[in-house]
Amino acid sequence: MGVENLRIVITGAAVGIGAGTAKLAAQRGASVVLSDLNSKDGEALAAEIVSDGGRAIFVPCDVTNEDDVQALMAAASDAFGGIDVLHNNAGIHESLISSDLTLETMTRETFERVISVNLTGAWLCAKYALPYLRKSDSPSIINAGSTSSITGYPQCQAYGASKGGIMQLTKMLAVDLAADGIRVNCYCPGAIHTQIVDNFLAAAPDPAAMLSTMTNTHLIPRMGQPVDVAELVCFLASPESEFVNGVVWNLDGGSLAWRGTIDILGMEAKS
Ligand SMILES: NC(=O)c1ccc[n+]([C@@H]2O[C@H](COP(=O)([O-])OP(=O)(O)OC[C@H]3O[C@@H](n4cnc5c(N)ncnc54)[C@H](O)[C@@H]3O)[C@@H](O)[C@H]2O)c1
Repeated sequence: MGVENLRIVITGAAVGIGAGTAKLAAQRGASVVLSDLNSKDGEALAAEIVSDGGRAIFVPCDVTNEDDVQALMAAASDAFGGIDVLHNNAGIHESLISSDLTLETMTRETFERVISVNLTGAWLCAKYALPYLRKSDSPSIINAGSTSSITGYPQCQAYGASKGGIMQLTKMLAVDLAADGIRVNCYCPGAIHTQIVDNFLAAAPDPAAMLSTMTNTHLIPRMGQPVDVAELVCFLASPESEFVNGVVWNLDGGSLAWRGTIDILGMEAKS
């Protein structure tokens, strides 16, 4: 039940949401394949999971590199005898690679790098996981969207375009892979406290105002934590969600459920 004995490949698993998901899934009996550009933190986390009694390996992989992605899926299958779940989590925001974030100043290279990691990378991982997923009894792909898949934010042109794209890619893959029995779902987090948010805030002209904008719409008046996402990923991966397919699942403290900020409800956001 749950993710017990599932073999889960997680991209971008060295830190943040991917790391949180790897830890929770391993605690619940999954075999986890952590992959990332960041080998130092990824290897350390895989070792920590193993020393806590879990099953984990780390495989270095840039999701934009086709050879890396092919090698990742082969290594995952070699280690654990197959792949049941692909968690397309690796992602970047343009503020990580540039401070030029307006339409006038952002370079084509910045725009294309974000699309390449967040959207093309997820597609490549799905492509090369497919032969292994076809052999699984409980196969699924889980894609990291964002509330920016759905609504607008300042200084998020490339990120929002990539996340809108992955939301639609989810539906197209759910259709195309239905005959293979492979479910494909997407979740859309609000602000989850990780490095990507810290970088985004640091790059904002007024970080405090931006933080307010991000959390003052949460009906649960706090930032999310990686474990909040990990819980949903574990559910979407599990056989218990076998009738859930092609969904775009908001995981945003209720922010997209309404139009307003919580001060009008007499509430105050906590950090
Ligand atoms: N944190 C949030 O508030 C939030 C909200 C919505 C969606 N998300 C999405 O969740 C996912 C994880 O975000 P996070 O907050 O944990 O970010 P993070 O920056 O903490 O971690 C992202 C990880 O992806 C890795 N990565 C970056 N480029 C890569 C590449 N080319 N190949 C492989 N790995 C690569 C990084 O090395 C890092 O370990 C992303 O897709 C992000 O867009 C996050």
